[in-house]
Amino acid sequence: MMTTMEKETTTLRMTKNQWSALESTKFEKIHSDVFADSADAAKAVAHEIAALIRYKSGRNQKCVLGLATGSSPIKVYKELVRMHREEGLSFKNVVCFNLDEYYGLGKDDVQSYVYFMHDHLFNHVDILPENINIPDGTVPYNQVINYCAYYEDKIDSLGGLDFQLLGIGRTGHIGFNEPGSKENSTTRMVTLDYLTRLDNAFAFDSMNEVPKKAITMGVGTILKASRIVIMAWGLKKAEIVERTVEGAPSPDIPAAFLQSHNDVTFVMDTLAASDLTRFKTPWLVGDTVWTQEVARKAVTWLSDRLNKSILKLTDRDYNDNGMSELLIERSAYDVNIAMFNYFQHTITGWPGGKPNADDSQRPERAQPAKKRVIIFSPHPDDDVISMGGTFLRLIEQGHEVHVAYQTSGNIAVSDHEALLYAEFAQQLTGFLSDEKDSNAALFDKAIKLLSGKKQYKVVPEEIRKIKALIRRGEAVSACRYYGLPDSQVHYLDMPFYETGKIEKAPISKADVKLVQNLIEEIKPHQIYAAGDLADPHGTHKVCFDAITMALKGLKGKEAIKDCWMWLYRGAWHEYPIHEIEMAVPLSPDQLLRKREAIFRHQSQKDGVMFQGEDSREFWQRAEDRNKETAAKYNELGLSEYEAIEAFKRYQF
Ligand code: F6R
Repeated sequence: MMTTMEKETTTLRMTKNQWSALESTKFEKIHSDVFADSADAAKAVAHEIAALIRYKSGRNQKCVLGLATGSSPIKVYKELVRMHREEGLSFKNVVCFNLDEYYGLGKDDVQSYVYFMHDHLFNHVDILPENINIPDGTVPYNQVINYCAYYEDKIDSLGGLDFQLLGIGRTGHIGFNEPGSKENSTTRMVTLDYLTRLDNAFAFDSMNEVPKKAITMGVGTILKASRIVIMAWGLKKAEIVERTVEGAPSPDIPAAFLQSHNDVTFVMDTLAASDLTRFKTPWLVGDTVWTQEVARKAVTWLSDRLNKSILKLTDRDYNDNGMSELLIERSAYDVNIAMFNYFQHTITGWPGGKPNADDSQRPERAQPAKKRVIIFSPHPDDDVISMGGTFLRLIEQGHEVHVAYQTSGNIAVSDHEALLYAEFAQQLTGFLSDEKDSNAALFDKAIKLLSGKKQYKVVPEEIRKIKALIRRGEAVSACRYYGLPDSQVHYLDMPFYETGKIEKAPISKADVKLVQNLIEEIKPHQIYAAGDLADPHGTHKVCFDAITMALKGLKGKEAIKDCWMWLYRGAWHEYPIHEIEMAVPLSPDQLLRKREAIFRHQSQKDGVMFQGEDSREFWQRAEDRNKETAAKYNELGLSEYEAIEAFKRYQF
């Protein structure tokens, strides 16, 4: 039975028994609630917190919340702020305890968590300042132990945490409890894992500046909370989510200790949930809806699992692995041949269609033989990183190719790189003319700004301008290397990106209009766009939305009446093999040319600022990924290629 409070505050709850009775979740040891969209998920979490605050306030009780920082809770805080402004949600009875803080950072450091919490929540609601508790990163070293005991006692003295909000790190950390943390650990000083520092490096100038230590509540402190909600968004969390929810609890994955708590919900979006058994291999947990796509997914999985090419799979293989339903009307032999042919037909060396050829089994139409193509590139290098080989083929096969760089990409240029160019330009101006031209003032100011050690909340326009120019120069250089005329290179500089911060503005009509105007001007037969929704700061998703909104606006119009759209994935992940609808093979030579084009993006080499989750340079990731796709095709029993670029058609 639920208590009154549970009833009133429940939005995400399901009792352990209810949920473990479901066949599809039989491998899951933490109740997991999966939302199609992280924004809706964050709202559900915020509403549960709001209900709890109101419940406690109605009884004149304090509501003790444990709060987290990082990218995961941002939308939760946004919704709470909205509810405060629009629905009168008051935080007067709320006492907050934050999970953690970097050791060495204080409230004036823009990367500190005390700054983050005020920026995202506390400055916008009516919480009493004395009710805000965040571990103090400036406590002298010899007082840390006492300070941590005091923090722990303070939570206990208020009766413990009513609710704890958590994100999860890719190391499996909660708070900053890195692998090795014990189940009964308390608030203490810890050393941050390399991967955690890498993930958080985007907020600092370089990896070296990310603090090595932090103060964090312990796993035991967290487990004492009455109710826990942990969140994860995006593909990059999928693997650790699966290990946390389905794996065995151990200090290797501190988050998995949550399995022992009896009121915890893991809230995630479909991307973060994608490695859970019920989504990854639904045929292993019960009834499967056998769509064509699920069948393809299952067959590629079976081939991989048994290390057999498709044509070697037997009836027994299907039956032993939960896939017997696929054989109700046909034998394994027939299913295998149909699957093999499907994958075979995705392969083409003619991404723009093969002129004068039968196109009934090809991914693209033969007509018109010469197509007008727009490659939309969210950042100035996604075009060559993600589809450099296909880009080159389209040009060589005589299509009219246009590239549209959707954003300036200025945030990803380091200060030292910008300083180099600004000083060069300043000296060149002085060298070429005695009179100071109008740009000289810009260079002077930018050099001054770049030379200081100041941390900017908003990067000044002078710096952004120089950084944007650097990226433009690199992008056009790569296009020229491929032989593309400058007139076919378009810079959209979409305004949503120009905040001077990592956090971007919401998409606006002006963004969509820029995309729409270009489509109307070119009247493309093919559009290529980044369908990759896993980039670290969400820029690809906004750029993709701008294209789909523009296409909606152009519905029925001449400009798109004969247009197909192909999606590529950005630097972070490739499409799973069963989702690929066009596979363009690259020869060793073409792969090298792609590498050269990526090299033109000098500012993104040698210590990329926003690498996301992996430390390889972009050209290495691109090559590894394209080679891996080729190897997977080969393992399915298809021809052996050096590398393959993959695309999926988007129907609009
Ligand atoms: C933050 C914290 C961390 C983060 C985790 C996930 O206070 O303690 O455990 O929750 O690193 O970070 P994001 O949400 O940025 O992926």
